[in-house]
Amino acid sequence: EGKPVVILGVFVADTAYRAARQPRMGETLLGSAFKLGPGGKGSNQAVAAARLGARVSFITRLGRDPFADMALATWREAGVEPAVVETPESYTGAAYIFVEEASGDNAIIVCPGAAMLISPEDVDARADLIRSAGVFVTQLEQPVAAAMRGLAIAREAGVTTVLNPAPATELPAEIFGLCDYITPNETEAEALTGIAVASVEDAQRAARTLLEKGVGAAVITLGERGAFLLGKGESRHLPAFDAGPVVETTGAGDAFNGGFAAALARGLAPAQAVRFGCAVAGISVTRPGTAPSMPTLAEVDALLARQERS
Ligand code: RIB
Ligand code: NA
Repeated sequence: EGKPVVILGVFVADTAYRAARQPRMGETLLGSAFKLGPGGKGSNQAVAAARLGARVSFITRLGRDPFADMALATWREAGVEPAVVETPESYTGAAYIFVEEASGDNAIIVCPGAAMLISPEDVDARADLIRSAGVFVTQLEQPVAAAMRGLAIAREAGVTTVLNPAPATELPAEIFGLCDYITPNETEAEALTGIAVASVEDAQRAARTLLEKGVGAAVITLGERGAFLLGKGESRHLPAFDAGPVVETTGAGDAFNGGFAAALARGLAPAQAVRFGCAVAGISVTRPGTAPSMPTLAEVDALLARQERS
């Protein structure tokens, strides 16, 4: 099972609406399906890593409401250890997820609620937990200052740090030097570097820019094209996995990051960890939902073995 993974981030309830298209302003549209389920990037990543056998703790804030109960039940089932500050003056967040029927692609509005109140002091209060990790992961749904503090504590203790810079936001220049790995998707890579990422070559150029900013390695996720890894002695394109027909791509980035972190915690080399993350993401897109679509280790190992044979 390897070293512990500690994740700082956000849980929200995902409310997913399937429809042919999004409504225009002032318009009401009939959709074809609705689903309520656990989401939030950090929580999804924690669930993914735990299903894959990692020992995972998750640092966040929750309100005191039915969505908080959903969070705790989700983590209990997945085996994620919660490190939660209860925040009754706020609410547990929610995400509006539009899923386009034809493509399975999505557009999201996320309201983090209580998690917007996560402060650097909250993170300081969990410093010992962070220092005990093999891998520390965070994203940008909670305030950047909290992410920064977590990365700084981890870095100082020699813990491997992963920043998944999602959703795209302006970042202070000092954050890059705190990242062993940064894992943007195409859009986020463009926001960070100004380089539009439409090909593997673009990803390589964007990754080079991120290394110049100070990260140890950049992993740019490329959807159906897999991922590009630059740094830690590697410059490699790792292809995506075809695990069946695509149902919903929401949470694929989280599947990748959770898988990548779990693999690093088990001591896999960077390129192998990226490949493992791609396999996890490849399975997650064949299933509806975000956290509920995360595969088990046995499922991922079977996919990896199948690919090695072909
Ligand atoms: O990355 C997918 C997640 O982003 C969803 O679960 C949604 O909650 C949004 O935060
Ligand atoms: Na999915």
